[in-house]
Amino acid sequence: MNTSDIYREEIIDHSKHPRNFGKIAQPDLHHKEKNPLCGDEIELFVKLDSHKKVKAVAFDGAGCVISKASASLFTEAIKGKSINELEQLSAKDVLEYLGLSELTPTRQKCATLVLETLKRGLKNYQQKTK
Ligand code: FES
Repeated sequence: MNTSDIYREEIIDHSKHPRNFGKIAQPDLHHKEKNPLCGDEIELFVKLDSHKKVKAVAFDGAGCVISKASASLFTEAIKGKSINELEQLSAKDVLEYLGLSELTPTRQKCATLVLETLKRGLKNYQQKTK
């Protein structure tokens, strides 16, 4: 088994059994974003601790294997991160969490849907807490 097979297995596992799937009541940061290419949606819920670091995170919605696996791995990876660290996250980090070095542009949209959702949610959060 080569490395890409292992990654593929991990992606399938996360899409079948997504971690942090569900909702969080009264989240500090919350947003629902649609992938304009397919109409799939991801809703993200983030609860912050007193130091404004991610205490809990959950996501909901329906999407393809890549978008679901990406959201699952992404939500695992951002636990404990500060607002500042969340702002720095890029598509490169998303691919790294997926264990992939590249994706086609269409698949990249699927993978980064959760990132876009977080970025919009962060903007709303900052406007609210200004
Ligand atoms: Fe819709 Fe991937 S096909 S998010």
